[in-house]
Amino acid sequence: MSKEYDVAVLGATGAVGREMLKSLQERGFPSKSVKALASSRSAGSKVEFDGRELTVEEVGPGSFAGVDIALFSAGSAASLEYAPIAAKSGCVVVDNSSRWRQDPRVPLIIPEVNANAIKKHKGIIANPNCSTIQMLVALKPIYDAVGIKRVVVSTYQSVSGTGQKGVEELAEQTRQLFLSKDYPPKVYPHRIAFNCLPHIDVFEPNGYTKEEMKMVNETHKIFDDPGIKVTATCVRVPVFYGHSEAIWIETGRPIKPEAARELLARAPGILVQDDPGKAVYPMASEASGREEVFVGRIRADNSLENGLAMWVVADNLKKGAATNAVEIAELLIRDPGLLATDWA
Ligand code: A2P
Repeated sequence: MSKEYDVAVLGATGAVGREMLKSLQERGFPSKSVKALASSRSAGSKVEFDGRELTVEEVGPGSFAGVDIALFSAGSAASLEYAPIAAKSGCVVVDNSSRWRQDPRVPLIIPEVNANAIKKHKGIIANPNCSTIQMLVALKPIYDAVGIKRVVVSTYQSVSGTGQKGVEELAEQTRQLFLSKDYPPKVYPHRIAFNCLPHIDVFEPNGYTKEEMKMVNETHKIFDDPGIKVTATCVRVPVFYGHSEAIWIETGRPIKPEAARELLARAPGILVQDDPGKAVYPMASEASGREEVFVGRIRADNSLENGLAMWVVADNLKKGAATNAVEIAELLIRDPGLLATDWA
């Protein structure tokens, strides 16, 4: 019989955590047991897994004993507290928060892009930011073929990226507006219904938001190329599921849009949808619920000598979070040596 693993999901009641459970099930991850962990707020409640109900347990220092792999999506504070405890007890953590992404001991992995970097892990592996994942899956084939000097990206990010509370705020605010009632923002600094907010995460002294700087710093780490120039504007839009990105790149050597389209069509994890004459291009409404990264509107950026533009869409809860985390777990079990931890 093939080996099965004891798995835990921390943040199992959240938007990403529920998707992690779904992804483990849908991808047929060989789990012997699955533990659903969250805070005391939801201890005792039920979450669905593989047609049955799991009882949510409050996370504590003893939660990870005997667990082989834990998927975390409970925010940075919980990751800071529990990832080292888990790793020290022999459990490999795949962490969806931003807490460990820039730690030199922690590989930041997109399986299609830098799977080999996983070998250096000591017990904690970071899942990149949702917007970074879909951008780099789309850019990797072009980066390998002709190099990339500079990336300019504008994102159109759905409210589920803020978690379940973001989804609820957009739904309720929309409903109240149609009833001509006021619904003051709670989760976002301004109304998100029928609006666009150029403000995701907090502002930094350099004028960018933390979300925008994640796209810069994570690109450097994942491509292992601190020389690549990246500038981002991250925008929250009134979409429930699926992030979209307008991306302009300056390549190292010239590449025709047709050649880029062919490269992308052959690349793992990508589905090219690019027939604008027939109104075929990626859309959040269609990408939602899917695991691929969708790429379209591939065209020359005529304002630049070696410029290429494209439109990239993915489900932020799936490839942008849960699917990528489960794919990392799949890399771990492919090589049994990778399940050892060494967190000091
Ligand atoms: P809980 O349901 O107990 O609040 P979302 O991203 O959709 O807001 O979900 C966040 C997830 O992270 C939830 O499952 C939430 O659990 C969990 N969570 C948040 N903070 C903690 C914490 N300090 N310890 C454990 N789980 C946490």
